[in-house]
Amino acid sequence: MRQYAIKGGNPLVGEVEIGGAKNAALGILAASILTDDPVIIENMPDVNDTNVLLEAMQEIGVKVERIDRHTVRICSALVNKLVVEGEFVRKIRASYYLLGALLGKKHHAEVVLPGGCAIGSRPIDQHIKGFKALGASVSIEHGLIITDAETLTGSHIYMDVVSVGATMNVIMAAVLAEGTTIIENAAKEPHVVDLANFLNSMGANIKGAGTDVIRVKGVTRLHGTEYMIIPDQIEAGTFMFAAAITKGDVTVRNVIPKHLESITAKLREIDCEIEETDDAVRVVASKPLKHTQVKTLPYPGFPTDMQPQITATLALTEGTSIVTESIFENRFKYVDELARMGADIKVVDGSAAIITGIPKYTGAALTAPDLRAGAALVLAALAAEGYSTVDDIHFIERGYENFDGKLRGLGGQIELVESERDFRKFQMKIG
Ligand code: UD1
Repeated sequence: MRQYAIKGGNPLVGEVEIGGAKNAALGILAASILTDDPVIIENMPDVNDTNVLLEAMQEIGVKVERIDRHTVRICSALVNKLVVEGEFVRKIRASYYLLGALLGKKHHAEVVLPGGCAIGSRPIDQHIKGFKALGASVSIEHGLIITDAETLTGSHIYMDVVSVGATMNVIMAAVLAEGTTIIENAAKEPHVVDLANFLNSMGANIKGAGTDVIRVKGVTRLHGTEYMIIPDQIEAGTFMFAAAITKGDVTVRNVIPKHLESITAKLREIDCEIEETDDAVRVVASKPLKHTQVKTLPYPGFPTDMQPQITATLALTEGTSIVTESIFENRFKYVDELARMGADIKVVDGSAAIITGIPKYTGAALTAPDLRAGAALVLAALAAEGYSTVDDIHFIERGYENFDGKLRGLGGQIELVESERDFRKFQMKIG
């Protein structure tokens, strides 16, 4: 038993340092395979998803050296295996980036079909469409996606859906191809831009990242680089909503405020005060929170990865709010957990939550159903009256580094406990 024990009721107050973006790191780590030269990556988040990907890369012959907790040196000159499988790598979604990277470099890859959070069916047809457009064959056999190409040739690809993963994967497969690849209806997320900047710093020729048309002109080789990953938009957003839900006053540091605009806009709508500086955002929730409506959308819209955190917060506002999920079709499972704390939320067709505000949550025994919903339950528990526990925190550890420690730094009463005895000790300490 590993769980968070939480006593709610304390407003979170203070400053918190945001780490490197997990979803950018996953793409960038895989992309580092594309050069034989050493690559140094800074501001790497130390979370389970990136650590599992690094282990999978070591399995295929990549040399990984940890310079410090957040800096790695990677050398892929001796990659000798093109098959990526194993229990852990199957569980992370981003294992599919090894397909694009290995296809781009070695023209062959076999990668176990990806898992990731169970937030709806997560097809990879757009990744496959992109690889095929570049001249690769793709098949699925014995649970592995196998892709192979004699040569890769630039092509014009129109994505049928806006997909972060497919956009990043096709960029990786195209950087060393012959000729120019044009990706239309590309994802515009900050991590797509970060991947393109990383690859350009290695000598790639990628233009248009951050818009919906990306042009990748193939180059013959990539060289080593030293690169710092952007701050994590979702970790920052989670702490900003932690301030709102606990009626606190939190400054998130080491962020790019531009990446947080859709989040700050919603916080302002519900009557939080926001102060922005070059690399920090302060959220003050001193007034009663107001209800609002929100729909998740690809960037620059409100991120689906912030949907559980805003829902948990809106459940404590006055009036009725509506949250519509437009990216994944099964992302409201955690609502049953919030109901244990007293939330009044009805989910319609799995795609919209109608939230009738209640004055307070009461603590309960909760189970994290996935990464972001798990974080949202922790926020709800920090706002609740009395004690809560949150189980299955391995989901949270996939994407948040030292989540409980950072919350404690803001005055949150939270501890990771491993037994009933630990839990009782926590209760005695808190009183
Ligand atoms: C990434 C993020 C995840 C985030 C999501 C949306 C990583 C490791 N994960 O996931 O945290 O929630 O972006 O911002 O970066 N789709 C298809 N066919 C495809 C690919 C996707 O139909 O080939 C659909 C998906 O089912 C979904 C939508 O497109 O409805 C967006 O998915 P996508 O952007 O690809 O998400 P991921 O890259 O898996």
